[in-house]
Amino acid sequence: MVRAPCWLLLLLPPVLCVSETALEPCEVDDEDFRCFCNFTDPEPEWSSAFQCVSAVEVEIHGGGRSLEQFLKGADTDPKQYADMVKALRLRRLTVASAQVPAVLVAAFLRALGYSRLKELTLQDLEVTGATPPPPREATGPALSTLSLRNVSWATGGAWLTELQQWLKPGLKVLNIAQAHSLAFSCAQLSTFPALTTLDLSDNPRLGERGLTAALCPHKFPALQALVLRNAGIETPNGVCLAMAVAGVQPHHLDLSHNSLRATAPGAPGCVWPKTLNSINLSFAGLEQVPKGLPARLSVLDLRCNKLNREPRPEELPKVSNLTLDGNPFLDPEGFNYQEDPMKSGVVPACAHSALAVGMSGTLVVFQRVGGFT
Ligand SMILES: *[C@@H]1O[C@H](CO)[C@@H](O)[C@H](O)[C@H]1NC(C)=O
Ligand SMILES: *[C@@H]1O[C@H](CO)[C@@H](O)[C@H](O)[C@H]1NC(C)=O
Ligand SMILES: *[C@@H]1O[C@H](CO)[C@@H](O)[C@H](O)[C@H]1NC(C)=O
Ligand SMILES: *[C@@H]1O[C@H](CO)[C@@H](O)[C@H](O)[C@H]1NC(C)=O
Repeated sequence: MVRAPCWLLLLLPPVLCVSETALEPCEVDDEDFRCFCNFTDPEPEWSSAFQCVSAVEVEIHGGGRSLEQFLKGADTDPKQYADMVKALRLRRLTVASAQVPAVLVAAFLRALGYSRLKELTLQDLEVTGATPPPPREATGPALSTLSLRNVSWATGGAWLTELQQWLKPGLKVLNIAQAHSLAFSCAQLSTFPALTTLDLSDNPRLGERGLTAALCPHKFPALQALVLRNAGIETPNGVCLAMAVAGVQPHHLDLSHNSLRATAPGAPGCVWPKTLNSINLSFAGLEQVPKGLPARLSVLDLRCNKLNREPRPEELPKVSNLTLDGNPFLDPEGFNYQEDPMKSGVVPACAHSALAVGMSGTLVVFQRVGGFT
């Protein structure tokens, strides 16, 4: 960031007049839209965060340190500074790389209840200690999107229930990647009445059993998309069974970037939800089309599998939009050359590192639902 001449700083609160040599942890763009802070310095200049006060998108990295020092004042009644929080333009916030006491998380969400924050991302956080008792009414922010990646909680499987108590209902998109526990305490969990997208991608140890534990029955009545990229899924049939137990009826199911295999002979059959009209089975190492898919689909994506011959009509559901690109029977080289708009060059469409592509794929989904693009 270009530093303002010091005489200009005379017009500003003295707290902003930091020494010339100190590396500025926060940077805000010229439009005051995006503000990024990285507090890795052993003695970070926390006050630099004031620069973000009028930004719409704020990303704060804590350098892995403990934020315990901010506990002082965590019990202040947020009504005292409600007007200030209400005035913030903040819509998207990312908090990453820190150890945070659960009490602080709760205080923080309570304060954000006065803000117009829509999207919250928590990443690489270790949440320590017990959560304070829940508020009497939902006081937190009215988020539309909540994303967590690699967040651990001292309270194990109860974490989602506790976090939920600090949010107003109305959450539409929930992304949970690299979770430490997805075995939720379903009896305590409240319904997510408006949740349309549940994305549990990048949980390679989840599998069908883990999915059954995570999909608390009847808690996701509005679900439209279930996204399970790189989630240790083995068969579409297993996912069908988990969905039936949970009573979810999505329109779209994404099982891409899993190592799928054919359903074992004698495995229990399953009735797919009638609503389901789109299944993504791309990058799944399939040598044949799995049996027992829904009889009729609008979209079936079988891109980048290992199909050695064209599937016969009786092996496929009735599909209006079928993608088979990147299968060996279509291009024996295993590469399907196409323009990549990002790199403006010719790249193989089916990369061989399923995991790496899975990770970036999740980012794409997140950006799409988050309205970044
Ligand atoms: C923060 O700064 C540290 C040290 O300069 C660097 O290693 C790290 O990658 C930075 N983090 C981000 C997210 O930019
Ligand atoms: C997950 O977060 C912890 C901090 O809570 C960090 O130490 C670790 O490196 C992160 N893991 C990954 C894979 O990023
Ligand atoms: C299926 O998933 C792949 C990779 O995860 C993605 O690139 C593709 O756009 C998806 N297809 C559909 C039809 O959504
Ligand atoms: C097929 O489905 C994909 C993903 O939903 C969509 O982007 C594409 O436009 C569809 N193609 C046709 C021909 O309908």
